[in-house]
Amino acid sequence: MKTIQTDRVVIVGAGLGGLYAALRLAPRPVVMISPESLGEGASSAWAQGGVAAAMSNADSAQSHAADTVNAGDGTVDRDVATLVTQEARSHILHLTALGTPFDRTETGDYVMSREAAHSFARVVRVKGDQAGAEIMAALIERVRATPSIQVLDGTMALELEVSDGRVTGVAVQSADALCSAPVMLRGSAVLLAGGGSGGLYALTTNPPRIRGQVIGLAARAGALIADAEFVQFHPTAMDVGEDPAPLATEALRGEGAILTNDRGERFMQALHPDAELAPRDIVARAIFAQTQAGRHPVLDTRDVLGQAIKTQYPAVADACARNAIDPAITPIPVAAAAHYHMGGIATDIDGRASLGHLWVCGEASSTGLHGANRLASNGLLEALVYARICADDIAKCIPKTSASAIDISFDSGGTPPDPNAVAELRQTMTDHVGVVRDANGLTSALRKLAALEAAHKSSVSFLNMTATATLIAVSALNRQESRGAHSRADFPDTFPGAGRRSLITLKEALAIRSKICEEAS
Ligand code: SIN
Repeated sequence: MKTIQTDRVVIVGAGLGGLYAALRLAPRPVVMISPESLGEGASSAWAQGGVAAAMSNADSAQSHAADTVNAGDGTVDRDVATLVTQEARSHILHLTALGTPFDRTETGDYVMSREAAHSFARVVRVKGDQAGAEIMAALIERVRATPSIQVLDGTMALELEVSDGRVTGVAVQSADALCSAPVMLRGSAVLLAGGGSGGLYALTTNPPRIRGQVIGLAARAGALIADAEFVQFHPTAMDVGEDPAPLATEALRGEGAILTNDRGERFMQALHPDAELAPRDIVARAIFAQTQAGRHPVLDTRDVLGQAIKTQYPAVADACARNAIDPAITPIPVAAAAHYHMGGIATDIDGRASLGHLWVCGEASSTGLHGANRLASNGLLEALVYARICADDIAKCIPKTSASAIDISFDSGGTPPDPNAVAELRQTMTDHVGVVRDANGLTSALRKLAALEAAHKSSVSFLNMTATATLIAVSALNRQESRGAHSRADFPDTFPGAGRRSLITLKEALAIRSKICEEAS
């Protein structure tokens, strides 16, 4: 394999975590592996709600940490929750200084949105539902003006090179058609900041490229994976037949929008005292049940926002317009869709993975902050806090150097994922590893994953997807209880006492999958 040796830190992914870490590392030389042009294709840029942070005087980091722990249903790491919520304020001030145009009140305070399971209106926002895009735009402008950061647009990571338990390089390929002969990049350190797994599901709010590849490539290299079974389904993806499904931000329910069905029933009132603002897992299951029962759930913003939705929530309004829905007149059809992976590559408090010389931040990581159910708008916050932690830890470990620009070119070769196989994989995950699971469905999903993998093993990119899908399904099978976003029809109760996090390697997951396949044959 062609090899490039560099003194740059290799950052895989160019979402919020990757950009923020690259800026923090400056002037240390960095190379960013970005499948698309900066700002395109990253989940962060699609985030509508904003960043959770206790910015008002009435609020506190302690209250934010307590809400995070409660939402996580017994499996949040309290030390991580304390750390992240305490850091939140400083990151909002820093993003403001970097040029993020957060919404302000007439007196200059941050406008705070209310989202589910928060005790306070605590989510800083930009132009209603534009937080992700605007924060990314501010960071991208800085990154482009920072000479120590080289961005390799149109590249994606494929595999990690490991020697004696330590990561020594990242094999990358051309992102065009997901195919080319790989090139090994050996850098001074590797930070994975490459997003989650939502796109492994047929119904998802995630950008098309976010299909568990980064978790998969780390797992295939031997990294320990935590809490893989905890996949968050967003209750109000728009049910309009688009792939990915557009999001109708939870902030709309924070404004007072209600959920009803085709009988006009407001079904959340009977299910939780906070009704539409119950924790996200509860609302998602309620929406899923309505959909399964053919009751066509809708989000009704008419009374609370009327025409104002069109100016105050431009992303939602655009998606409605594309689908000939006037939300001032007609409620928005909604469905529960895979949205965020709480699980991922297990990291310690410094953002280090179980393999040496490997750091992870953002959705690909599992720091312990989210537990079984992420508190709304804690995702961008975690990416910010851990991007800084990882960058600072990397800076301690590598000497200060300069590095020349990398000149990379790709030869033809490699096998792209077969689109039909990807579609089958995604449908399998939605049908059997989705909002409500049981042993029959999970074992049948694992047999299907094994068959797909055997038929398509020449595509490394596809193997990264099936690795993550396998980890999710095996971990879901292993957890014989219902907790947070993980709901088992055959094990509806939650184990009493403190919850435990799950830890697994891909080798262990594959052994379980093989046993299931043998039993079936
Ligand atoms: C939303 O705006 O509803 C999504 C926010 C989040 O996923 O944290």
